Parts: sequence; structure tokens; C-alpha cells
Amino acid sequence: MEKRFSQSCENNKDPILTELKKYFSDKKHVLEIGSGTGQHSVYFAKALAHLVWQTSDASENHPSILAYGKEAGLANWREPKPFFVGQDPWPQADTSYDAVFSANTAHIMQPDEVQEMFRLIVEKLPAGGVFCEYGPFKFEGKFTSDSNEAFDARLRDQGYGGYRDIEQLQAWGKTQAGELSLIDVIALPANNHLLVWQKQ
Ligand SMILES: C[S@@+](CC[C@H](N)C(=O)[O-])C[C@H]1O[C@@H](n2cnc3c(N)ncnc32)[C@H](O)[C@@H]1O
Repeated sequence: MEKRFSQSCENNKDPILTELKKYFSDKKHVLEIGSGTGQHSVYFAKALAHLVWQTSDASENHPSILAYGKEAGLANWREPKPFFVGQDPWPQADTSYDAVFSANTAHIMQPDEVQEMFRLIVEKLPAGGVFCEYGPFKFEGKFTSDSNEAFDARLRDQGYGGYRDIEQLQAWGKTQAGELSLIDVIALPANNHLLVWQKQ
């Protein structure tokens, strides 16, 4: 099992953690969507020892996530569940999740997968449940920097979904099963944001 490495995870983990300490302070069970290398999961699980951190991603990413988890040996860290939004059902657990975290996934997923992610989160979170979503976003159709605009164009050339508008996400957060309200938008380094959503 090989640990993969992402420099951006190293750069953004502390600014994100500062916010998760606030918004996950009373949460017990977090589902991470798109755990990637696994770096975030062990760092956040260690710092947020009051809750259980459940990793997930497409199966091809599990070896690296598992390698980080086995090395860290944390009692509150859980092995990845196979979960590719749009293909797999919501990951089941012994106790339901009261929070969701996802970093740098909404601009990689196809738009219909992002919409499905919002639909599932609205359906599955209890009232008061929180979704912390980190990444680059557009605001009213505008990019926050020229480099973000160039990166979005490269992503879409490669077949990825590209940047999502926050206003589009807010619309997708309103479903027949309930609503995710955007309760905070926190500017973080490198022109990224943490969006904090709460199930009403
Ligand atoms: C840019 S990586 C980010 C990984 C990690 N969260 C991070 O911040 O470094 C994008 C991740 O999204 C995952 N992903 C892409 N489409 C997905 C989908 N439809 N459902 C779940 N995960 C998806 C990929 O497998 C990958 O791990």
C-alpha cells in the first residue's frame, strides 16, 4: 500500500481545521466524500478526537487512504467506504452521520454528480447537520482570480466538471426532502473558500 502525497493538502489543512473546530465542535460522526490521498482524514481525525471520521472515495483511491489510516492508528478513524456519487448508494454506518466534509471535489465532479451529492446530503443529514465544503468556487458567475479561471478552463478541457457557482449550489440545496442553507462563506488562502451548509 502506497501513501500518495498532495502538497495542496499540506498547505490547506491548518486553515481548514481552524474552521472545522468551530463547525464540528458538537458533531459526532463525519462522512468525508472524496478522501483522495487520505492526508486530510488522519490530520482532521487526530485533531477532532471527539468525533468519528469516516473516509470514502472511489475504490482506486482506497490503498493510499488505508496506508495513511493504518500508519496513524487512530481509534476514531474509519477505513474508506466505496462511494462515488452518481454510482454508489450513500455509505451505510452503524450510527448515522451528523456532518459531511468534502474538499476539492465539486470542481472535479460532473455537475449532475454535484447536484446528486447535495440531494443525498439533504436527504441523509438530520436537522442541524452540517456540510463543510472546501474548494474553489464562482460567485455570481465570476471567478475569484485569473488563475482560477485558467484552471477551470483546463479542467473542463480534460473532461472534469469545472467550477460551480455558489448560487447554483444554493438552488441544488433546496429539495423536496428539505433544505441545506448556506450559513457561512469563509475565504481561505489560495483563493479558495470553505462553504458551511446546515440542514434546516
Ligand atoms: C482533486 S481530488 C481531492 C481529494 C482530496 N479531498 C483533497 O482535497 O486533496 C478530487 C477527489 O474527488 C473524488 N471524486 C471525483 N468525482 C467523485 C464522485 N462523483 N463521487 C465521489 N468522489 C469523487 C476523486 O476520486 C478524488 O479523490
